[in-house]
Amino acid sequence: MMRNFFSNLFRMLALAAALAFLGSLSASAQTTPPAANEKELLEYLKRCPPGQACDGRVTIPDQKSATLVQDQGRRWQERMEGPVKRWGGWFLIAVVVLLALFYMMRGRVKIDSGLSGQKIERFTGFERFVHWMTAVSFIVLGLTGLNIRFGRSILMPLLGEDGFAAVSQLGKTLHNFTSFAFIAGLVLMLLIWIRYNFPAKGDGAWIAAGGGILKKGVHPPAGKFNAGQKLIFWAVILLGGAIAVTGIIMMFPFYFASMSGMQLATFLHSVLAILLIGVILAHIYIGTLGMQGAFDAMGSGQVDLNWAKEHHSRWVDEMQGRKATGAAE
Ligand code: HEM
Repeated sequence: MMRNFFSNLFRMLALAAALAFLGSLSASAQTTPPAANEKELLEYLKRCPPGQACDGRVTIPDQKSATLVQDQGRRWQERMEGPVKRWGGWFLIAVVVLLALFYMMRGRVKIDSGLSGQKIERFTGFERFVHWMTAVSFIVLGLTGLNIRFGRSILMPLLGEDGFAAVSQLGKTLHNFTSFAFIAGLVLMLLIWIRYNFPAKGDGAWIAAGGGILKKGVHPPAGKFNAGQKLIFWAVILLGGAIAVTGIIMMFPFYFASMSGMQLATFLHSVLAILLIGVILAHIYIGTLGMQGAFDAMGSGQVDLNWAKEHHSRWVDEMQGRKATGAAE
């Protein structure tokens, strides 16, 4: 009985050892060089000659996933890690420095005639809701997007690899979901404000006068939106629209675009997003620190009458004319 037990045990152990040996043989056969382990695979990828695609083999239907190195992809990566990151970073730093210098030289644009104490409604509750939905989603998208491009260099040294991985994973999820609020905001803004944003008489003179913010006491006339605001509006709609389209292309890989299309979409998304962040930094500056009374327009929706007369005199005339005749806006 005991002898039988030991001989069975011995046979089972021998069988297990043989299976393990065969298993290791087949595993090494599947991972024949160059991909014996991760380190060797990386070495192989580094040796992949320029101008050549280095492919492996896959048994799933998506044959694209067998491409380990694609030469065009390598150039794309160099461009993204090189000029896009370098020039994009310097561009954003330059915008912040220029705004700070402008503030130091010009100071806050004050209401020259002082506060009147009388208010006029500038934006309705719905207009402000649309603005803040777009603004908040833009800030979330901007921060989480910048983390994708710059986080490895800036945040990873501070948070460590694991911390950075956790933050980036959360950031990526936020970026994907917040994009829908941003797109909704763009569409609504276009619908409610397009009528005020076509070029009009006086826009050229407004630009020639630097919008009245370069020199004290200069107040070029403007309608509800001045030429500067019109430029911001179209930058948000056109750049934001292109960012949204390229973002959707990236969100559904290879659904709308080929490999080259995906690379182009990522490149454009990154460059246009950085450009628009620069534009919006200037917009945030003038709406807060840069100009007395401007924030109220999107804060409470009510601005001081003297502020309105100095910055949007045609709009005030129009509103007061309507009020006098009892017409609705
Ligand atoms: C509106 C809809 C948007 C969609 C659908 C979208 C989608 C995406 C997707 C899928 C990625 C790639 C993420 C990854 O690598 O896994 C990405 C990256 C990025 N997004 Fe967006 N995004 C949108 C808006 C924005 C906005 C408004 C900004 C800027 C304020 C922005 C800035 C960025 C940046 C800087 C990157 C990194 C690109 C790179 O250099 O690799 N995105 N976005």
